[in-house]
Amino acid sequence: MHGYEIETPDNRRHAPEDASPQSAPADGPMKPALARDAAVQPGLRARLMLWLLVPLALFVTMAVITGYDNARRTADRLQDKLLLSSARMIAGEVDWSDGAPVADVPPAALEIFESPYRDSVFYKVEAGNGRLLGGRPDLPAPPAPPTEADGPVFYHASLADMPVRAVAYRRLLYDAGRSVPVTVIVAKTEGSRCAMLDELWRPQLVVGSLMLLLVAVLVPLGLRFELEPLMKLKDEVAGREPMQLEPMCAQGLPRELQPIVDAINQCIAQLKLHSEAQRQFIADAAHQLRTPLALLDAQLQYARRVDENAAARDAALVGACRSTRKLTEMTNQLLMMAQAESTPQPALTEMDLGAVLASALEERLAAAQQRNIDLGAEIGDGLWVKGNAELLMALVSNLIDNAIRYTQTGGRVTVVAKREADRIVSRVMDNGPGIPDDIRERVFERFVRGFASTEGTGLGLPIAREIARRHGGDVRLATGVDGQGVTATVILPASRGQGAGDEAAADRR
Ligand SMILES: Nc1ncnc2c1ncn2[C@@H]1O[C@H](COP(=O)(O)OP(=O)(O)O)[C@@H](O)[C@H]1O
Ligand SMILES: [Mg+2]
Repeated sequence: MHGYEIETPDNRRHAPEDASPQSAPADGPMKPALARDAAVQPGLRARLMLWLLVPLALFVTMAVITGYDNARRTADRLQDKLLLSSARMIAGEVDWSDGAPVADVPPAALEIFESPYRDSVFYKVEAGNGRLLGGRPDLPAPPAPPTEADGPVFYHASLADMPVRAVAYRRLLYDAGRSVPVTVIVAKTEGSRCAMLDELWRPQLVVGSLMLLLVAVLVPLGLRFELEPLMKLKDEVAGREPMQLEPMCAQGLPRELQPIVDAINQCIAQLKLHSEAQRQFIADAAHQLRTPLALLDAQLQYARRVDENAAARDAALVGACRSTRKLTEMTNQLLMMAQAESTPQPALTEMDLGAVLASALEERLAAAQQRNIDLGAEIGDGLWVKGNAELLMALVSNLIDNAIRYTQTGGRVTVVAKREADRIVSRVMDNGPGIPDDIRERVFERFVRGFASTEGTGLGLPIAREIARRHGGDVRLATGVDGQGVTATVILPASRGQGAGDEAAADRR
């Protein structure tokens, strides 16, 4: 059997270690995997920065745009107010002289524009049908003439290639029953307005930019500082020896990391349990193998020594054969145990448990006949389960084997299997000596045996239970029919396979 090779010391030295991280150099196969992951996903720090900086930049941009708009409106309102005041003052000073209106521009009307920005101020006073009373004649007219009803007209214009803001204001001049409309236009360059806009808006721009800059500098620093415990945790996990199974210390870690440490510790605890169980199993298995090996050695040496005595030599060789049989049985059971345990989810196929039982019974028929045991079966049709054929065969074989092995010569062993609701229930019943109550559960432990005089390994029932549980079922032992012998019951979930529900029992006795 090729499985034996796995157990040779040479193989043991090389094969498993090749796969274990212990044999790999410290920077071995784990590091490239980490590097690959890092290449796929941007770092946590970069992502947090994006989450912070992008919304903040949007917010600052919007605040600056709104601030600019408000500042512009305030500057415009102030400037327009000054222009209108000036125009009203000038219009207020237009009076009759010799039957005609005359404009006398008061200095205050122009002085109100005084500022460090030295804006140029222009005016024009027109009476009635466009007669110029004073000021610059080339001052551009408003897009629509002002009226007393609609009030002054404010507008942008250009004078001598200079952009100007202007107001056109109109009033009616009365005298002895006649009235003359007077239009005053005042315009000024926009130096002070632009300066005011800057003064109102610049500070907001500076504050916003500073805020962005501060966040861009401080957040990475803060993240670096705050992520340090996580990095330490990573180093501690990565730097662990494969068999370092002490729980990790969560002291000093932020609250959010506590569940991660708990989960890691839970995993470590399970690993520890598993590794302890494995270690114990290997120690027990070695112990169990050592006894028949030592016996075999002694028997062979004895056979050599009693070379002349044919009867003694034959007896020694028969004993040696028994030892090798026991070794083979033990090795097979160990391999089956390993197979049952290592298959995480056995490759499941739809199968009829009845067929598995029938072939297991056929295999044991000779052994039963040899001991004059009445081996019978009542196996229903369509006992569909989802399972691994090899493992299920080992499961039922172990139970039938036990029943035949421990039942006295001339006894009776019956296998009954049927569908009960959504379960397939198989019972292996014998009328042998039974199992005392106090060890009925203990016989499911590895290497626990009840009958020292009978050959066996103490692995049959643990294997059977392991396989049943892996298939979502269980194995139970109970006192047999009429309080005699043992009934071993296997319960497996029924699958919806073809023929499910067909409970017509076919007696295969
Ligand atoms: N049908 C049975 N009748 C009586 N004793 C049984 C029966 N099946 C199991 N046992 C007891 O349970 C023990 C453990 O069984 P098992 O795990 O199959 O190991 P093994 O058969 O190799 O001893 C047996 O040694 C025996 O004492
Ligand atoms: Mg057994």
